[in-house]
Amino acid sequence: MTDTPTIRWEQDDTGVVTLVLDDPNQSANTMNQAFRDSLAVITDRLEAEKDGIRGVILTSAKKTFFAGGDLRDLIRVTPETAQDLFDGGMAIKRQMRRIETLGKPVVAAINGAALGGGYELALACHHRIALDAPGSRIGCPEVTLGLLPGGGGVVRTVRMLGIADALLKVLLQGTQYTPRRALENGLVDDVADTREELIAKARAFIDANPESAQPWDRPGHRIPGGTPANPKFAANLPAFPANLRKQTNGAPYPAPRNILAAAVEGAQVDFETAQVIEARYFVELAAGQTSKNMIQAFFFDLQAVNSGASRPQGIEPRTVRKVAVLGAGMMGAGIAYSCARAGIDVVLKDVTPEAAAKGKAYSEKLCAKAVSRGRTTQEKADALLARIAPTAEAGDLAGCDAVIEAVFEDVALKHKVFQEIQDVVDPDALLCSNTSTLPITALAEGVERQSDFIGLHFFSPVDKMPLVEIIKGGRTGDEALARAFDLVRQIKKTPIVVNDSRGFFTSRVIGRFIDEGVAMVGEGIEPASVEQAAAQAGYPAKVLSLMDELTLTLPRKIRSESRRAVEEAGGTWTAHPAEAVIDRMVDEFGRPGRAGGAGFYTYKDDGGRDVLWPGLREHFTTPGYEIPFRDMQERMLFAEALDTVRLLEEGVLTSVADANIGSILGIGFPGWTGGVLQYINGYEGGAGGETGLPAFVARARELAERYGERFAPPALLVDKAEKGERFTDGR
Ligand code: NAI
Repeated sequence: MTDTPTIRWEQDDTGVVTLVLDDPNQSANTMNQAFRDSLAVITDRLEAEKDGIRGVILTSAKKTFFAGGDLRDLIRVTPETAQDLFDGGMAIKRQMRRIETLGKPVVAAINGAALGGGYELALACHHRIALDAPGSRIGCPEVTLGLLPGGGGVVRTVRMLGIADALLKVLLQGTQYTPRRALENGLVDDVADTREELIAKARAFIDANPESAQPWDRPGHRIPGGTPANPKFAANLPAFPANLRKQTNGAPYPAPRNILAAAVEGAQVDFETAQVIEARYFVELAAGQTSKNMIQAFFFDLQAVNSGASRPQGIEPRTVRKVAVLGAGMMGAGIAYSCARAGIDVVLKDVTPEAAAKGKAYSEKLCAKAVSRGRTTQEKADALLARIAPTAEAGDLAGCDAVIEAVFEDVALKHKVFQEIQDVVDPDALLCSNTSTLPITALAEGVERQSDFIGLHFFSPVDKMPLVEIIKGGRTGDEALARAFDLVRQIKKTPIVVNDSRGFFTSRVIGRFIDEGVAMVGEGIEPASVEQAAAQAGYPAKVLSLMDELTLTLPRKIRSESRRAVEEAGGTWTAHPAEAVIDRMVDEFGRPGRAGGAGFYTYKDDGGRDVLWPGLREHFTTPGYEIPFRDMQERMLFAEALDTVRLLEEGVLTSVADANIGSILGIGFPGWTGGVLQYINGYEGGAGGETGLPAFVARARELAERYGERFAPPALLVDKAEKGERFTDGR
């Protein structure tokens, strides 16, 4: 037999065997059952025919080298099936170990992306050469899915790079390197510019190293930089948990902790024992809920969202050539940069030529920084800048096939600017507003072609934030929605789609988080504890500091508009306890937030944040008043999750994946939860070990009793819990 189901055996007459990874049933090679079976057959044959073999080249016939573990399998692992995963993992490790100790040189000719399991396969080879293909990435991103590299990745990187470098450069951040950066950081040994060069270099290594062995299998090998057994190293050891804490901020991410333990414990024992330790820590993570949440969000949901699950079907994709950005302020300037970076011509309009030029200057600043850091070339930066034409003349917008408006948040002004330009741009130009709070249906009334009008809500800072919330107004057509979706993808951002409603999804739900933090201060809880609770729940921004950034007058303005709308519709407004705190902060103490020089925090003369305002303790804090820390955290998480369920009920949200991704990428809902609805699916805090929706409902009722009716679970949630369902898009 010459071949196996997924690995082709090609042997030339010089005794070099090329193993070609090529799974016929998948677009990428993964560590599925067929691969495991193939690998077993291949290792047997290599050992049997060893005497006729001079060396082995491992490469792939796919665009990627090897994609790693199959996440569809991993997300289904339960504590009951964990032993199978352990056994299967150990079996693969044994095959890889047999290849590595064959006594013949084995070279990984990494022809494309080698991430996770793919890179681990390459680590079991004696020499790694990467083809410098565009888009190719190398590394161990498992930590970003709540896992650790369980195919020998911890054991081998520690032995190859030393504990500190393995942790910092490869394992804890999950950095995905370009082939050249992988070379600089010691992840690969060489790079090649063409496939021919790749194979030629692999052959040259085999010729020059007839009896290869891994460094760690050579007598006297020591782990670079030492191990905890070495007193000098041991002195540095306490820094690791401290760094880890900095990375996770005390939030419940088990993967970095397990990676650290596997690396440090594994460094102190022999190779085989280290493999077992690594497997144990891996299986523990795979069986736990956090990895399931993170795989669901960062792999499945993100893929669904970006591939267009919420884009109307059957509409031809279109690309935008020339976009008009109206308003060159903070948002307009960022939007112009992001569009120009994607190769779109931009006309950036403001009221005066100076204001427009100032908007372009923002791109100049970003470009200069990117060049100085080596992230782009001067040539590319110049081309980007040449695509942005600042102007104050409406006439310059001729030929634009899309418009993105980002002028001040004022309905009359927004109507006026669209009036000015609607006859100048292309007659079917897509018309978008970047409003963060104004309902889209009402804004559309200011334009003639209401079906082409849509909300395109960017986040600040635009060049860094990956999310765009697309808001479909009452009269927005499917064609406009599809075009808006395509535009967001064209500028390489992630689009979620929602129906029009006050505050849309993101602005409304982040408001619930902030309200809860502010309300707790009003109840008399120590403000520093409130900030700690948010940080340790995994929020990227502390809640009171975020309120200061946004300014305290903003929720007040939004609230009064919402209140008017509710009352005009004949409803009754239910005040949130945060309102009274904000009123006092602004009216009584004159502390409207950072822009006003004072808020929940004090600010230095240069605008830098100083300390929590001592007056808070005097005016709000009740000495001795405490609530459980877990309640503080869950009040914030639940307030957001429950309001998201209401948005599903109201039909504002129509996709679970959009909700999960929007919450993580747009408004900082903690990543370990897998997003705002996955948090409910995977909720683990139930009494007696109960999990998921029933546990969440029970806990919501408990919070409602203690802290107010706003925590009462909505009917949709109760109903789903009773039926044993979860939040899914049914894909
Ligand atoms: P900004 O105040 O920085 O910029 C507004 C710009 O519009 C100014 O440069 C102003 O000169 C210009 N402008 C005013 N009238 C104009 C006219 N007739 N023609 C052309 N330009 C005109 O405001 P920012 O923060 O950039 O916000 C713009 C919009 O983006 C608002 O609707 C806001 O709600 C929305 N938004 C803001 C976010 C933020 O974090 N600041 C986030 C998401 C949306």
